Amino acid sequence: MTWESTVLLRTPEGVKALDSAMEVAGSDPLAAASALRARGLSPELASAALTQVELRRRAVAKFGADAASMFFTRAGLEQATRAVVAERRARRLAAAGVRTLADLGCGLGSDALAAARFGISVYAVEADPETAAMAAANAEALGLDVRVECADAMSVPVERYDAVFADPARRKAGRGRVFDPKSYSPPWDFIASLPDRVPRTVLKLAPGIDHDLLPPGAEGEWTSVDGDLVEAAFWCGPLAEVPRRAVLVREQTSELTGTGTEKAPVGPVGAFLYDPDPAVVRSHLVAELAERLGARLGDPEIAYLYTDEPVETGFARRLEVTDVLPFSLKRLRALLRERGIGRLEIRKRGSALEPEQLRKDLRLSGPHGASLVLTRVAGAPTALLCREI
Ligand SMILES: C[S@@+](CC[C@H](N)C(=O)[O-])C[C@H]1O[C@@H](n2cnc3c(N)ncnc32)[C@H](O)[C@@H]1O
Repeated sequence: MTWESTVLLRTPEGVKALDSAMEVAGSDPLAAASALRARGLSPELASAALTQVELRRRAVAKFGADAASMFFTRAGLEQATRAVVAERRARRLAAAGVRTLADLGCGLGSDALAAARFGISVYAVEADPETAAMAAANAEALGLDVRVECADAMSVPVERYDAVFADPARRKAGRGRVFDPKSYSPPWDFIASLPDRVPRTVLKLAPGIDHDLLPPGAEGEWTSVDGDLVEAAFWCGPLAEVPRRAVLVREQTSELTGTGTEKAPVGPVGAFLYDPDPAVVRSHLVAELAERLGARLGDPEIAYLYTDEPVETGFARRLEVTDVLPFSLKRLRALLRERGIGRLEIRKRGSALEPEQLRKDLRLSGPHGASLVLTRVAGAPTALLCREI
């Protein structure tokens, strides 16, 4: 979609085109385009309207009911912060007394819009003209006070604002590389210098970001939504409240905080295994979770926890361990056959085995289901057979 077609969609003719596209969308795309052409729409407007309707449909997962009146680009939607996460951040900024905010690289505006909803006056800059036009359209559509400008974030006099927020774009880093400063836009050097210029800086980063890159004294926060790790955020200067925080957004949001440097006790495998949420693992708060659960690790390097009695927790998935065996394909196959296990959920941590290949090699058959955990216990490759949940 071009910048011009974004403008077109906001004209009265464009609004009608969007209504018509809603009516015909869902059918075969070619048939839908022909139907719109038959109603007198130009090919460009028909295509822009159909694309927008399709993107709005997909955006519901991130933006809920607001999606119906917002404007999206494919890339912008992919990079946009989920509204529920943006809202939490905005609430925290407002509670910290932030009244004016510069959003550097605002994309379609998810974070900027959320901040404005909490009464923060937002200046949002975006380098890409089409995306900037959509961010402005989104603020207008939702009736929110966000001043959007198409500009280079590096030219913004950030010192004028109470706080600054940056969510840099990231090209996919090379295979196996967790952090590549060259893949950031605006560049990492600029991003990393922001807390020196504006103490109340928040950086949204890829969840794989290295803890060593946290500015001194900053809080590292990792967020998951329904068990998917979605982002890391560095809360700098006076915005930092704790060294590390894990935020698990589900129907209800729960948080775990701590130093990120504690070590969990290590001991034998127990009757119950806990697979911590990825936000807990990435924020290095497994020891804090172990303490809450009265649990131990089976291996100092592997983030599975064990207890002898079941403990309720929303911070980990719990499995009941029925069998513990040193890993051997032959022994495992025999055990599964003896138990009549034909359905197997396989999870692993600290094992190089390929679950799908293993599943084939196990030649499963039988009426029952189970979970298999491939891991190491005290350094030794181990298979844990668990009751299916
Ligand atoms: C990850 S997206 C931001 C998403 C946004 N937080 C949201 O939730 O909708 C990063 C944005 O920064 C923009 N960008 C990259 N370099 C920039 C620069 N130097 N100045 C301004 N914007 C820039 C990109 O075009 C992209 O839209």
